[in-house]
Amino acid sequence: MCGIVSYIGSREARSILLEGLKQLEYRGYDSAGLAIRQGNHIELYRAVGKIVELEKKIAGKEVKGTIGIAHTRWATHGEPTEENAHPHRDQNDDVFLIHNGIIENYLSLKKWMEKDGIVFRSQTDTEVLAQLIAINFEGDLSEAVRKAMSQVEGTFGLAVIHKNVPDEIVIARRGSPLIIGVSDHGYFAASDVSAMVRHTNKVVHLKDNELATLTAGGFSISTAQAIPIERDAETVEWRAEDAELNGFPHFMLKEIFEQPETIQNAMRGRLEPGEGVPKLGGIMPVWENIKECRHLVIVACGTSYYAGCVGRYVFEKLTEIDMEVELASEFRYRKLNFPPNTFILALSQSGETADTLAAIREAKRKGASLLGIVNVVGSSISRETEAGVYNHAGPEIGVASTKIFTSQLTILTLLALLLGRHQKLSLTEGVEAIRALQLLPDQVRAVLSQDNHIRAIAEKYHKRSNWLFLGRKFNYPIAMEGALKLKEVSYIHAEGYAAGEMKHGPIALINPDMPTVAIAPMDDMYDKMISNINEIKSRKGPIIAIATQGDEKVKELSDEIIEIPPTLDYLYPILAVIPCQLLAYHCANLLKRDIDKPRNLAKSVTVE
Ligand code: AGP
Ligand code: GLU
Repeated sequence: MCGIVSYIGSREARSILLEGLKQLEYRGYDSAGLAIRQGNHIELYRAVGKIVELEKKIAGKEVKGTIGIAHTRWATHGEPTEENAHPHRDQNDDVFLIHNGIIENYLSLKKWMEKDGIVFRSQTDTEVLAQLIAINFEGDLSEAVRKAMSQVEGTFGLAVIHKNVPDEIVIARRGSPLIIGVSDHGYFAASDVSAMVRHTNKVVHLKDNELATLTAGGFSISTAQAIPIERDAETVEWRAEDAELNGFPHFMLKEIFEQPETIQNAMRGRLEPGEGVPKLGGIMPVWENIKECRHLVIVACGTSYYAGCVGRYVFEKLTEIDMEVELASEFRYRKLNFPPNTFILALSQSGETADTLAAIREAKRKGASLLGIVNVVGSSISRETEAGVYNHAGPEIGVASTKIFTSQLTILTLLALLLGRHQKLSLTEGVEAIRALQLLPDQVRAVLSQDNHIRAIAEKYHKRSNWLFLGRKFNYPIAMEGALKLKEVSYIHAEGYAAGEMKHGPIALINPDMPTVAIAPMDDMYDKMISNINEIKSRKGPIIAIATQGDEKVKELSDEIIEIPPTLDYLYPILAVIPCQLLAYHCANLLKRDIDKPRNLAKSVTVE
């Protein structure tokens, strides 16, 4: 989903910008470009396709300069062509601009400018912004941007340079994230910290309807009404090696194998084993209200939604709270009537998903209190919720979410345990829960140690055109998440289903070519899952079972078995999803897919 990186400082901008664009590739894009100030001239290079195509354009060219802007485009208006790639210019090549987002009223503005004889070269909405800034420019670039902000509707994260303003980059934000990076050799502006993580982890978040002027010596922030803003830099936990593969072939595999540590990090400093009560400092600002809360709604998208679906079963088990889980893209259009003291809990890795952000804003209008479980510190959702819990999982670069999912499940369990222990959950149950949580990192390692076995299963079935995933209760959402993982990285069609629904239709699909992943741990749904496995077996459907270690019955019934250690029923999803992640990864690898950047997908869906 598009990316911005810009730099002004003492070092050559070219390599810094290209490196930054590569760090942003995981967000998904279709073309790229950059502009670098070289004396009184601004050099422009753009290319369709991957960053390597842009590098080919620049190769051999003398492009010297310490100020520049660069962009990866995820086209919304106009085909992915070189002319539509960013940076965009005004007709006189004075203004060079990069933009994330959508200018909703671009057509009316474009018609108005064309009437005045202004010539456009692209089909994009972004070019309108460049032309507008040029029209508004009377010597002060930030003033010209401020005026343009008042004229456009829609969303933008933008960075702009002007031929006649030699030592400034102006940035502005409305609805599309933009952060300033403070390094020891210059200043950055980017859509996320990964673009600058090799140079700094000190960042300043721009808020909606704010703009900033960056120079080689510093930056100043102001509102759209020209009111100056003072804001200190904060240190994010991300390190340069987080953005490296560190020997793994893909970020997705690296992040699958990071899960023992990220689950540990989700619990770090948050467990009180003796009391059987977790500590969640981020919840304390709303504690007096949430401890009485009896109605909680989770809103999320994609994998985060499936984490919420597991969360509903966990809250049902551990608390007296009436829990709902809603797709954010549906929730935001519903007629919302909340009982008093309703809390909305947003789950989002990026903290920038447009549908989830819109959903919590709508819920706030209707009087609900807002919580968030978010990975990216300082992201929009983390700032617009009253309280919440950070995953502390480091950047998730692979488009397919893996380590964040198990981190979300862990934190949801901690939240349910915290609230449950202030309701009816006993000390014994609390201590039992915490002891089981503490075992999880090593149990995840035990599942990961079967990677070769899981790859062998993928080798047998990766050419099958359709897969079915089945689970019940806590593991029904894991069936849906397993199907999503397979779909999004291998492009194999897969469906996740509540196993109890088989006899209501899907059983018609069973055939020797369609493998079924049956999630059948020894929980209170075990016997029912055995029946489902028998139903499938009797119709010659291949069974890949995920079962509790030592389960001879499932082993005998199944074509393949992946064993997971025994744990509490509501913790099995955290272990059962790992084989699903690895099956998806290995099928995709065998099919030579672009695993970290699957076609058509973006890491953070910041447009609706
Ligand atoms: C999951 O693998 C996908 N990348 C996608 O479904 C993702 O979970 C969804 O877009 C939500 O993203 P968020 O957690 O950043 O809000
Ligand atoms: N709407 C702009 C375009 O289509 C920007 C898209 C993006 O965010 O990459 O060029």
